[in-house]
Amino acid sequence: MLDPVKVGVLGLGTVGGGVVNVLRRNAQEITRRAGRGIQVTHASVRELSKKRLCSTNGMILTEHPMDIVNRDDIEVVVELIGGTSRAFDLVMKAISSGKHVVTANKALIALHGNQIFAEAQKAGVNVAFEAAVAGGIPIIKAIREGLSGNKINWVAGIINGTTNFILSEMREKGRAFGEVLKEAQALGYAEADPTFDVEGIDAAHKLTILSAIAFGIPLNFNAVYTEGITKIERMDVEYAEQFGYRIKHLGFARMSEQGVEMRVHPTLIPHGRLIANVNGVMNAVLVNGDAVGSTLYYGAGAGSEPTASAVVSDLVDVVRTLTVDPENRVPHLAFQPDAISRNVRFLDISEVETAYYLRIRADDRPGVLADIARILSETGISIEAVSQKEPPEGVKQANIVLLTHRVKEKHMNEAIRRIEALPQTSGQVKRIRAEMLP
Ligand code: NDP
Ligand code: HSE
Repeated sequence: MLDPVKVGVLGLGTVGGGVVNVLRRNAQEITRRAGRGIQVTHASVRELSKKRLCSTNGMILTEHPMDIVNRDDIEVVVELIGGTSRAFDLVMKAISSGKHVVTANKALIALHGNQIFAEAQKAGVNVAFEAAVAGGIPIIKAIREGLSGNKINWVAGIINGTTNFILSEMREKGRAFGEVLKEAQALGYAEADPTFDVEGIDAAHKLTILSAIAFGIPLNFNAVYTEGITKIERMDVEYAEQFGYRIKHLGFARMSEQGVEMRVHPTLIPHGRLIANVNGVMNAVLVNGDAVGSTLYYGAGAGSEPTASAVVSDLVDVVRTLTVDPENRVPHLAFQPDAISRNVRFLDISEVETAYYLRIRADDRPGVLADIARILSETGISIEAVSQKEPPEGVKQANIVLLTHRVKEKHMNEAIRRIEALPQTSGQVKRIRAEMLP
């Protein structure tokens, strides 16, 4: 058998530590699959003295990741630092030095992937990123290879473990947002800057990647409509339950004749749907293809070893392809680089159609509901269900909660503007989009 492939790991935190542990524990199985051993000979960290998740015996540890990238004996660089500046320089240098790259960095791929893949194509090296979307779920491989006979119609998923963990703990145990976020950070689920999780940016990075490989379009993070979970209140979770729905933070992308829509936002989903029952740090992605219909992929969306599982499977793929002619490798973005549709139209959120949950604070007196119903009817919006929640003792205004049928966002914007202008209502109308999903 050939000598083991020498790998340099940049970053030995939650994911890097997991990668070393999995490679060591499953060394025999991995070698049997890859055809060669995979050995981490060098790793980089910020602080040499920090306690690690893995043993660093048998590897050289440095604070200078570029030194590892510059080593001639390293064949594969695994980037697990995160962020988009230092990581970008390291990855581009690795590529230009003819090294294969494995990364879990969704921000890097979503923002700079077009440039990175073009350089990798020129250099004849692989850049693998399975761990960048949905942690341990092999969703990139499923779409890029398993579903390559299909025209993909849409993709919908719970693709951020931290927000799903927070929403689940709030709903099931009534825990406070901030307290659960702290726990997600301690468990290693959250991004270095957790606003990326709770404001939906991390999910938008992942949806950018999923859309590119599903539809054969360039990565376009700026075209994703992004809303996080910070404005979700407990009462909305309860009212949604009373209507038979769960609130999930969902990424949704669809290719239609009108163009491509990409959006991440809190979403009401009927509680009987499988995806509405995906809780805690688990992720799930629904992919609808014209031949296969709807398929569902489920698993841990974050955490040390689930993410390491995806990184190591990329490493095995890279080692397997070391001997393959670069022209015949699976394309980075699923479609051949010269076959990517560059003239695609991305839909503005105002053009997107969904159903809605609305919560309106209004005076508790006759005629208010009739005024609201009239505005909705005049803007072409039909109501599916309505309920008035009695105000607590001493409070004058009640909550009117509505579910509507599907309507274009621009018509809903107009209706909300008119409802907010009614003298009998106050504050902003709370709007949460709803999807029925299979
Ligand atoms: P951690 O913060 O746990 O680890 C980051 C590692 O990189 C640490 O070893 C740190 O060193 C080192 N590092 C940080 N900043 C620098 C820097 N400027 N220069 C050099 N080294 C640096 O992050 P994670 O392991 O959680 O995440 C790594 C990547 O994986 C990110 O891109 C993240 O988005 C992605 N990811 C994470 C998942 C998860 O569940 N955590 C899941 C899927 C993807 P030191 O340890 O000394 O501080
Ligand atoms: N912070 C991310 C999450 C890590 O919670 O989903 C996995 O990508």
